[in-house]
Parts: sequence; C-alpha cells; structure tokens
Amino acid sequence: MLTPVAPAAARAGAQGDALAVLMRRQTIRRFRAERVPPEAVLRLVDAAAQAPSAHNRQPWRFCLVQDQAAKSALADTMGRRLRADREHDGANLAAIDADVQRSRARIVEAPLVVVVCLTMAEMDRYPDPKRTQAEHRMAVQSTAMAGQNLLLAAEAQGLGACWMCAPLFCPDEVRSALALAHDWEPQGLILVGHPAQPGRGRPRKPRQAIVVFR
Ligand SMILES: Cc1cc2nc3c(=O)[nH]c(=O)nc-3n(C[C@H](O)[C@H](O)[C@H](O)COP(=O)(O)O)c2cc1C
Repeated sequence: MLTPVAPAAARAGAQGDALAVLMRRQTIRRFRAERVPPEAVLRLVDAAAQAPSAHNRQPWRFCLVQDQAAKSALADTMGRRLRADREHDGANLAAIDADVQRSRARIVEAPLVVVVCLTMAEMDRYPDPKRTQAEHRMAVQSTAMAGQNLLLAAEAQGLGACWMCAPLFCPDEVRSALALAHDWEPQGLILVGHPAQPGRGRPRKPRQAIVVFR
C-alpha cells in the first residue's frame, strides 16, 4: 500500500536548509564506533523513499546491515570475489592483500551498511531489447536518486556516509551473503556512521566546463 505524501505546507520552508545540506555534504570514509540511532536509520530510509522514480514504481530496495556477523559475511564474500578478479588481472599479491583488507575493514567497521538494490519486478516489460534496456536504466536512475537522498539525509542528521560501488562487480555474492530475494539487483553499499574525520573536500569542475547555454 502506498503512503500519502506530506502536504505542501509541511514541505514548505525547508528549501534553504536543503540547499545548505547538499552543498556541504562530502563523502565520509571513517566512522566512530557508536551505533546509528534507530530513529535516524528510519529517517534515512524514509528520505530515500521520497525520491522521484520512473512511473512512481519505486524500484529501490534496501538491506540494512548492522549485525557484525552479517557485515563480516558480506565483507568476506566480497573480498573473495575482489581477490579472484585482481588475481585474474595479474595484480601484485601484496597490493591485492592490501585492497582486500582495506575493503573488508571499511565494511565491518561501518556502524551501518545499507545495501542499495533495485528490482525490475514492477517496472514495465517490453518485447524488444532497446526498450528493456531503457526501462532498466530508469530503475537504475531512480535508485541512484534514492541513494543520493539517503546521503543527504545522513548529512542533515550529522552523520557521514560513503557510497561504495563494489556490489556492481559481485551482485551474486552480495545477494547470497545476505539472503536477498533473487530479483534484488545490488547497486551499491552506503556506509553510514558518525564521522571520525572530515571529508577530503574534493574539487568540482568549473561551471563553464559542464554547462552549455543555448
Ligand atoms: C556511483 C558512485 C560510486 C562510488 N564508489 C566509491 C567507492 O567504491 N569507494 C569510495 O571510497 N568512494 C566511492 N564513491 C565516492 C566518490 O569517490 C566521491 O563521491 C567523489 O570523490 C566526490 O567526493 P565527495 O563525495 O566528498 O564530494 C562513489 C561515489 C559514487 C557516486
């Protein structure tokens, strides 16, 4: 069942705040050990679900991982895939070890790991590959918007977050480590917690490099 949206009056007045939040957000990669309070976790999910989506189908799905054993299982499974892929590339073994260890530590040390998935279950179906691919892209775009909402909701609550792309390279491993439904397609991990250090202040391209006026 769909929940009604907040009335316009409830949504008015926060525009300046929203802009400030999105301008100051930065990726946070190290977190303090304390848990993310349950009400903050729910606000993250509600904010994510407020994103726009193609046909309003809301194809996003989230697996919230806070249990230490589940985080370890996820990190270990993903680590095995990463190691196999890097070995196949012919990478240096010490470099592979370091990569696997760094990735594992980031996942198990994050107080909250949100596995961002999409499902095509309620998206439109077409007989031809061109429209099938376009429909899948719509689900990817919608889910990415939900992910961005979640990042901003973390910032708005004084939390830090980092989107990790690794699940795109090992969706089957992520699905099986967390016993996710077969139609959930892992798109990314968002690590969330109280920031232990500030963001890196990554620069942005100048406006004239990314915009054309006609
Ligand atoms: C689709 C996507 C995938 C990303 N994957 C990773 C990742 O695997 N590891 C990581 O540390 N950061 C990852 N990031 C974060 C980017 O590195 C970061 O957003 C970028 O450097 C700009 O920095 P900022 O977010 O602090 O503005 C990812 C971001 C996006 C949007």
